[in-house]
Amino acid sequence: MTTPPEYTPPIPRWRPEGASILQRLRLARKDVFSSQPKRLYRAWMAQQNAILFDSYTINQPDLIKTILEDRPDDFPKSNIIQDTLKLLLGEAVFVTNGETWKRQRRIIDPAFEGGRLREVFPAMVAAGQASVARLAPQATGTPTEIEFETAHAAADVIFRTLFSIPITDEKATAVFHGFRAYQRAQPLMTFPALLKAPKWVPRFRSSKSARAAQAIRNVLADIIAQRQDQLAAGTAPDDLATKIMTTADPQTGDIFGAKEMVDQVAIFFLAGHETSASALAWTLYLLAAQPHVQERAAAEAQAAWGDAPDFANMRNLAYVRDIFREALRLYPPVPMMVREATRPETFRSRTVKPGSLCILSPWHLQRHERLWDRPHVFDPDRWQTAETRKTARDAYMPFSKGPRVCTGAGFAMIEGVILLALLLRAYRFETVEGKTPVPVQHLTVRSEEGIWLRITPRLPEGSPSGGTPSI
Ligand code: HEM
Repeated sequence: MTTPPEYTPPIPRWRPEGASILQRLRLARKDVFSSQPKRLYRAWMAQQNAILFDSYTINQPDLIKTILEDRPDDFPKSNIIQDTLKLLLGEAVFVTNGETWKRQRRIIDPAFEGGRLREVFPAMVAAGQASVARLAPQATGTPTEIEFETAHAAADVIFRTLFSIPITDEKATAVFHGFRAYQRAQPLMTFPALLKAPKWVPRFRSSKSARAAQAIRNVLADIIAQRQDQLAAGTAPDDLATKIMTTADPQTGDIFGAKEMVDQVAIFFLAGHETSASALAWTLYLLAAQPHVQERAAAEAQAAWGDAPDFANMRNLAYVRDIFREALRLYPPVPMMVREATRPETFRSRTVKPGSLCILSPWHLQRHERLWDRPHVFDPDRWQTAETRKTARDAYMPFSKGPRVCTGAGFAMIEGVILLALLLRAYRFETVEGKTPVPVQHLTVRSEEGIWLRITPRLPEGSPSGGTPSI
């Protein structure tokens, strides 16, 4: 058997040589990737002078460690991000800093401890099975936009694990469209935020993005009010929402109030559904582009789970897990993170002034040409080598690192494997000619025109055609 040639999947556009600051700002408003220079795939640190402050993209592992792990309090989250997400997230853990953030993490973290992953497994499987059933009418080989379904499935996972309720089609569609509308109406960065204008400078957010954010928050507020009633009546189910709403801060003894809980649920929803949807859609695209990898993964999923998925056999899904890891390396859903220096720093013999932005880019780090072997090639088997594991210690951070690491990292890793295994047992995915996706940075990494795939049932061997896909 011949070895298939190496596959290099789509990479984003980079900015034209000699682009002016104004051109760069315009590009960044549409898609941050296209405002970035190509040299970031090789540089250890690159300075970009904005009009009022400096910004540095930092790829050097020991400097990343300083910022995220050793001295995170000296590099708080930049309010560029707060500015953009305020309408939707209020004071959620994703955007706060200092003591407020520390208190929020003390209340939230216990809900996501490793031990609870076994408890969320059945809800994740149920969401995966619902996704398989939803796709059945589209599994005719006609092109399907798969991001829609991965977002629907990831939203279902969040609803089932947080609130013990399956997402109804209507709600999922409303929330999904709400998020899309919000993303379209709300640029990733507003001009005043990019220029770090003081808070009193008007941000001119469109009324469309305000409406989209409010619509999402209204759905979430309803659900939380209902849960408060259930908690008062002693009828609340034992799920993530109950755990978070009843966990007291070990230092102060207080719990989240209703408004604060809406903020937190909004971020679980945003962080937990946008990111997983992006990761799953890109993984399915990679598998469609590499049929031999897909066939091997489907066979593993079939063998690991037989008739019924179970938690203990998750360990037999090593190849599916490596595929998901490799997809998170090439298409990290959160491609860049922004921090702000609060005191003078010397990085690579350069003085970084207080107020400068430090951009940490999983996108560039995980494809860095001086750190990774064949950095742009899709190769899930690389995760079985000691060399990759060594490189990954310094140069792989799809979930960030340090105390601000993603709260849902363990959750997302089992969710990805479960959903992929269930989808691959049921269906075969193929690329569509003329529809190669172009990665762009919205809130997460998406494809400019969606990710289009042909889906057909993967019928069990020997079954008559037209049988029901296995779930
Ligand atoms: C593949 C899926 C996911 C990826 C790649 C991902 C990635 C990340 C990254 C990179 C950050 C750090 C952002 C920054 O510091 O600027 C983050 C933070 C966060 N993520 Fe995730 N995430 C995923 C899924 C989830 C899920 C499923 C949840 C919850 C259910 C979640 C909840 C959060 C929260 C609450 C934060 C804020 C943590 C803090 O600032 O203290 N994420 N995530």
